[in-house]
Amino acid sequence: MALRGSLVVVTGASYGIGAAAARVFGRNGARVALLARTAAALDAVAYDIRAQGGVAQAYPVDLTDAPAVAAVAQHIIADLGIPDVLLSNAGSGRWLFVEETEPDEAVAMMAMPYFAAFYITRAFLPPMLARDRGHLAYVNSPASLVAWPGAAAYTAARWALRGFVEALRADLHGTRLRVTSIIPGLVATTYFEHNPGVLERAPGLARRLLPTLTAEEAATAIVRGIARGDREIMMPGRLRLLYAVHAVAPRLVRWLTVATGAKRGER
Ligand SMILES: NC(=O)c1ccc[n+]([C@@H]2O[C@H](COP(=O)([O-])OP(=O)(O)OC[C@H]3O[C@@H](n4cnc5c(N)ncnc54)[C@H](OP(=O)(O)O)[C@@H]3O)[C@@H](O)[C@H]2O)c1
Repeated sequence: MALRGSLVVVTGASYGIGAAAARVFGRNGARVALLARTAAALDAVAYDIRAQGGVAQAYPVDLTDAPAVAAVAQHIIADLGIPDVLLSNAGSGRWLFVEETEPDEAVAMMAMPYFAAFYITRAFLPPMLARDRGHLAYVNSPASLVAWPGAAAYTAARWALRGFVEALRADLHGTRLRVTSIIPGLVATTYFEHNPGVLERAPGLARRLLPTLTAEEAATAIVRGIARGDREIMMPGRLRLLYAVHAVAPRLVRWLTVATGAKRGER
């Protein structure tokens, strides 16, 4: 799809991968609506995009608040129109064993990213369906494909998101709306400050095998894949290779993930 002049809604656009993707979309001539909670950080990203000649507008919102998401979607449609691309990228969640996870935190991990992705999709889908055009893209995690130890509630929420994306694809069969699943490996962002203790719990397999990407590298791959209409975007290349091995030898990859993963009592 042609990005120039298109309208792209990016969630989680205040920091990390979302902020970088918003900038790349802006550089490619898209008009960008930026969503997250932190207004000052959204304004800074919008300012950068405008300083480079782009069009960007910040919409501060808590994406786990369904009525607030419905209201912000109406504002965006009134201000800028119906999105051509929705990039649902906002996410959070610590990696904890079940017994370390308070029930409230398990609920919060389901709310962000899964319910947030559901709410924002539900808010934009009717006008996108009526126009029968558009692209819905979801940033997920390698944990949506293979579970690793010490991240139970996080993993369950990522499997929920993956299930939603697959079901949405089935729902949209026969329409001209496209759905993309995005799975980055390790990306150097504020995620690890926002969710302390996560990096230490990454399986050794991932830490040894996968180069850590910059947010800009991840964002460039995401924007390129969306423009091409890819069904799945996975980066870096070695992550794709790992999942190709998983497709033929799932028990081996599962064993390596668990054997090199977090152990109780270790950090
Ligand atoms: N970094 C990695 O290695 C990595 C790897 C695989 C997948 N991912 C996924 O990539 C996505 C982006 O992560 P990142 O690395 O860029 O993390 P990040 O730097 O922590 O950014 C997360 C974004 O989500 C927003 N967000 C969180 N809770 C929100 C809420 N309730 N309402 C609205 N916005 C909310 C944050 O903005 P506010 O705090 O301003 O609301 C922020 O913009 C996430 O879904 C993450 O799971 C990351």
